[in-house]
This record gives sequence, structure tokens and C-alpha cells, in this order.
Amino acid sequence: MHSTKSAVLLLALAISASCVVATPHPEFLDDIFDALNRTGQHIISGFLDATKNGTAIAEEFLDNIRNSSAQYYNETLEFAQKIEDAVHRAATEGITDFSAALGAAIDVLHQEIDRQRNVLQRKPLKDALARLQAIQATVNDLENAVNDLNDEIDEKKLQYSAIIQEKWIQWADAQLERVDEQTNGVGTEEAEEILDELLSRYSGYLHSCLEELQVQKASYEQNVHEAVVKYHNATNNLTAEVRLCLQSNLNFLSCRNGINRALRVLSSAPADLIALKLQGIRVRASGLNASGCVGQTLAEHELEKPNVERELDDIIARYQDEQEGSSSGEETSTAIVS
Ligand SMILES: *[C@@H]1O[C@H](CO)[C@@H](O)[C@H](O)[C@H]1NC(C)=O
Ligand SMILES: *[C@@H]1O[C@H](CO)[C@@H](O)[C@H](O)[C@H]1NC(C)=O
Ligand SMILES: *[C@@H]1O[C@H](CO)[C@@H](O)[C@H](O)[C@H]1NC(C)=O
Ligand SMILES: *[C@@H]1O[C@H](CO)[C@@H](O)[C@H](O)[C@H]1NC(C)=O
Ligand SMILES: *[C@@H]1O[C@H](CO)[C@@H](O)[C@H](O)[C@H]1NC(C)=O
Ligand SMILES: *[C@@H]1O[C@H](CO)[C@@H](O)[C@H](O)[C@H]1NC(C)=O
Ligand SMILES: *[C@@H]1O[C@H](CO)[C@@H](O)[C@H](O)[C@H]1NC(C)=O
Repeated sequence: MHSTKSAVLLLALAISASCVVATPHPEFLDDIFDALNRTGQHIISGFLDATKNGTAIAEEFLDNIRNSSAQYYNETLEFAQKIEDAVHRAATEGITDFSAALGAAIDVLHQEIDRQRNVLQRKPLKDALARLQAIQATVNDLENAVNDLNDEIDEKKLQYSAIIQEKWIQWADAQLERVDEQTNGVGTEEAEEILDELLSRYSGYLHSCLEELQVQKASYEQNVHEAVVKYHNATNNLTAEVRLCLQSNLNFLSCRNGINRALRVLSSAPADLIALKLQGIRVRASGLNASGCVGQTLAEHELEKPNVERELDDIIARYQDEQEGSSSGEETSTAIVS
């Protein structure tokens, strides 16, 4: 159950990542590829096949993950985490680069507007400046939306993992120790099975709470990255048109046409970037939903603990009955709740 869930998550993240990588920042995944062993390489070729054929997931690839060992599972999760980080980094660095390009383009326009004496010829430059300033105003908000979403999810992850460490792992360790001591090690294996089953069942619930959020976040960041790269390119194009105009003393009409053509690509930018900011806020809302789901899972785990403790009590009682060697061992074995 574990590994199937993480495989789905991983696959979705990898599909997002491969889209990001298809646009100009391949170096982001370089260190991931470096860190991976042959298993990792195999996972990657699985993804590449799956992504090449659209949404079809290569059955053999999923089979491999289902059959995987705990070690493999651990690698898979780590890999998913690295991909998540890479997607986030691609989005935020894309925004930073774009923001710098906008600033530079705005500076160039200011200079050229100051230099240009002819009012008519200033007009297209002023239009371009106004457009870029409108875009610049939305980029900060978008950057904040992307970072807020990421920070919130990170914070939740830390919060959950602290609770899980204390209420799940430390509790289970203490229970195991209790059985181990009170049965002289005889009941340890059975207790371990019960506790492992509980842990892996609840880990599965947690994955179902969180996987959709992770996928939403990754595809959101991928959308941000795509938009930012597109408008970054258009901004460069605009600056290039302005420079061309001034350097080669083109006639006014071709100048204006070149600038207006470049501006047309940018006309959808403010609305697009605002829409992306809002999408980020919606993903945060599903984050709250996921938190609700996690909260409920943690609460259910608390409710189930006393039953598990009773099962462990039974193991201890059975051992102690056997030690006493005398009377009926039968009546203790019935009250087990699953
Ligand atoms: C790669 O494999 C070797 C041997 O199997 C192992 O010791 C090492 O930790 C692995 N590295 C990573 C990054 O998984
Ligand atoms: C996907 O494409 C690869 C290479 O083209 C092919 O070998 C593989 O069988 C395809 N997988 C599916 C599920 O269609
Ligand atoms: C996975 O395990 C199943 C059942 O043990 C087996 O039939 C299947 O061939 C295995 N798949 C792979 C890819 O090893
Ligand atoms: C998973 O791998 C990390 C780093 O290789 C290690 O620190 C951690 O203990 C492993 N977890 C499990 C459950 O094996
Ligand atoms: C914009 O991207 C295209 C490819 O999509 C590229 O050919 C062109 O050089 C880029 N333009 C700028 C100004 O970066
Ligand atoms: C700007 O982009 C247009 C359309 O893609 C292209 O025709 C033009 O050459 C580019 N201008 C510059 C200066 O790169
Ligand atoms: C929250 O979860 C409920 C129940 O699963 C679902 O109906 C609702 O659409 C979710 N809301 C968001 C914002 O994801």
C-alpha cells in the first residue's frame, strides 16, 4: 500500500518535473540524477516512457515499485522529495530571474524616454513602460503566493512529523519495550507485527491525505514556471526591439510596429499572473483540507491505541499464564479487538 501510493505521488511529481525540465532549466535536476543509483536511473526511464506516451503509466514500472523493498521505498520517497524541491526551486528562481529582467527593461525604457525628444516617438516607449510596470506590480504578489504556499506546507510537514515522532514512533517503541521486558523477549515478534501493521496502515492514510495536495502544489509551480519563462522571453524581446529601434535609426513606423508586436505578447501577462496568484491561494485552501484529513487521521490513531495496548496486554498475560504453568490459558485469548 505504502509503495503504490508513493509511486503515484512520485510519478505525478516526476511528470511535473519533466515538464519543467523541458523548458530552459535542465540544470535543476542534474544533482538529483547524480545522487541516484541504478534503481534511480530505472525509475527515471520509467517516467520518461510514461510521460512520452501521455498519461499512460507503464504497468511494468508500477509493478516494480509495488514489488519493491523497504529500502527502495525509502529511496523513492527521498527521490520524490528531491523532485518536489527541484520543481519549487525552478518556479522561484524563474520568478527571480524574470523580476530582474523586468527591472532592467524598465531602466532601459526610462533612459530612452529621457533621451527621446520627439513626443510622438516617445509614445510607444511610454506604453511599453506602463505595461512593464503593471506586470512588475503583479510579480511580487505571485512570488509571495508561491513562497507562502511552500512555507505553509513545510511548516505543516514539520508539525505533523513532530506529532508522529512522539505519538506514533515513541509510543510504539515504548510499547514494544514493555512487551519485551514483561515476556522476556518471547512476545516481542508478535508485538512488533501488531505495531508495524498499525504504523503502515496509518502511514497509508496519511499518504492519501497528502498526495493530492503534493501533486496540486507541484503542478501549480509548474504552471508558474511556464508562464514566467514565457513572459521573461517576451520582455527580452521587447527590450531587444527598443534597442534595435534606437541603434539602427529605424523609421518611426517600423519602430512602433516592432514595439507594439512585442507588447501584444505581454498584454495577457498581468491578468495571467494574477490568476496564478489566486490559484496559489486555492491550493492553500486544499492544504487546509488536507490538514483536516491529517488531523482526523491523528485523532483516529489516538482512538485505536487503547485497543492495541489491550492486544499487547493479552500477549503479556498469555506469557505470564504459561509461566505460572498451572491453570487455564484459554479464557484470556478471546477479548481481542481488531
Ligand atoms: C548507492 O548504492 C550504494 C550501494 O548499493 C549505497 O551504498 C549508496 O548509499 C547508494 N547511494 C544513494 C544515493 O542511494
Ligand atoms: C511507451 O512508449 C515506449 C517507447 O515508445 C514503448 O516502448 C512503451 O511500450 C509504451 N508504453 C505504453 C504503456 O504504451
Ligand atoms: C511483482 O510481483 C508479482 C507477484 O509476486 C510478480 O508476479 C511480478 O512478476 C512481479 N513484477 C516484477 C516487475 O518484478
Ligand atoms: C531512509 O534513508 C535516510 C537517508 O539515506 C536514512 O537517514 C533513514 O534512516 C532511512 N529511513 C529508513 C526508514 O530506512
Ligand atoms: C524566445 O524563445 C524562443 C524559443 O521559444 C527563442 O527562439 C527566442 O530566442 C527567445 N527570445 C528571447 C528574446 O529570449
Ligand atoms: C521579437 O519576437 C518576434 C516574434 O517572435 C521576432 O520576429 C523578432 O525578431 C523578435 N525581435 C528581436 C529584436 O529579437
Ligand atoms: C475538501 O474536502 C471535501 C471532502 O473530501 C471536498 O468535497 C472539497 O471539495 C475539498 N475542498 C477543497 C478546497 O479541496
